[in-house]
Amino acid sequence: MDHIGLGLAGAGWLGESLIKELAAFPRFSLAAVQDVDAARAAVVATDYDAAWHGTEYEALLRAPGVDAVVICTPNAFHVAQAQAAFAVGKHVLVQKPLALTGGDARATVGAANHAGKLLFVDYSYRYLDTVRVLREALPSIGLPRRISGAFHNVYGPGKGWFFDPRLSGGGALVDLGVHLLDLALDLLHPAVTVLERAELSHTQGLQVEDAARLVLRLDGVRMHVDTSWNANRPCTEMALELEGERGRLRWENVDGSFFRFRTLHDDRCLLERETPLRTDTLRAFDQALASGTAPPVHLAVYELLDRAYGRAGQIAV
Ligand SMILES: NC(=O)c1ccc[n+]([C@@H]2O[C@H](COP(=O)([O-])OP(=O)(O)OC[C@H]3O[C@@H](n4cnc5c(N)ncnc54)[C@H](O)[C@@H]3O)[C@@H](O)[C@H]2O)c1
Repeated sequence: MDHIGLGLAGAGWLGESLIKELAAFPRFSLAAVQDVDAARAAVVATDYDAAWHGTEYEALLRAPGVDAVVICTPNAFHVAQAQAAFAVGKHVLVQKPLALTGGDARATVGAANHAGKLLFVDYSYRYLDTVRVLREALPSIGLPRRISGAFHNVYGPGKGWFFDPRLSGGGALVDLGVHLLDLALDLLHPAVTVLERAELSHTQGLQVEDAARLVLRLDGVRMHVDTSWNANRPCTEMALELEGERGRLRWENVDGSFFRFRTLHDDRCLLERETPLRTDTLRAFDQALASGTAPPVHLAVYELLDRAYGRAGQIAV
């Protein structure tokens, strides 16, 4: 398709961050904006020149010129909204997490395949150049022996729905840890993933965990995942480190930045780059539409989350 009209569902912080960057992508235009908050939908539609706005998701799907839906609503709505879009033949870009359960994630991937439409999940970090370089360098370290991922955000989400497990599906683990699980699975494609231990902390009196530690095995390789909101640290830390037979690769944010990342091989910097993040997502979505192939969705991410939250199976300690 030469031109793709986008319908935005959920015109909050992330939704606006994404559409702000649309000008750099001539193939995309914003056709419609939907939010349960009518005033918010109207303001964002006006600010970004969308011809249609409204509060009903079904109406967004019928709005003129919508070829693909960009779902930036609270987590619990992603599955139903994505499946409804596939049912009427739209492509979908949906924010992480795709789903709150492994079963729902699987059903949504199935719905996309059945409709022959693209399901693109916005695991933002996966699409960064620094992560591409990490992926390219992987063979140089030989077989991985140990993996560790950390995402400690000195800020909390600050919005009510994140703290309501019915809307969010959980706390720091599903919000931040999902990126680390996705990155590790996307780099290594393990055939077998095992959750050995999950510790969820509720030290901030929230209904969802403010911190989580997981110990996993990815095809026998041990991975530690450590994540928290409102981290008591000097600055936000994001990192994924893989130690192999012949060296160590580390992807990390620089000096607490949310927008500057680097990849190191042992102590040598392979690439350091600043990015607005959302352009990387839109570029990857554009390429996926052009090629007709979406980046893979690793269902094991959601099965691991199910196990960590005790929703299914056993947590082996
Ligand atoms: N990819 C990333 O790195 C990243 C970063 C931040 C947030 N996110 C994800 O983006 C999503 C939104 O997060 P946010 O921080 O923008 O939240 P937000 O609260 O700022 O925005 C959510 C918006 O959705 C609207 N909304 C609520 N229910 C709706 C419905 N049924 N239909 C349409 N609109 C509805 C709200 O009124 C609000 O405007 C979440 O899933 C979050 O996990 C992803």
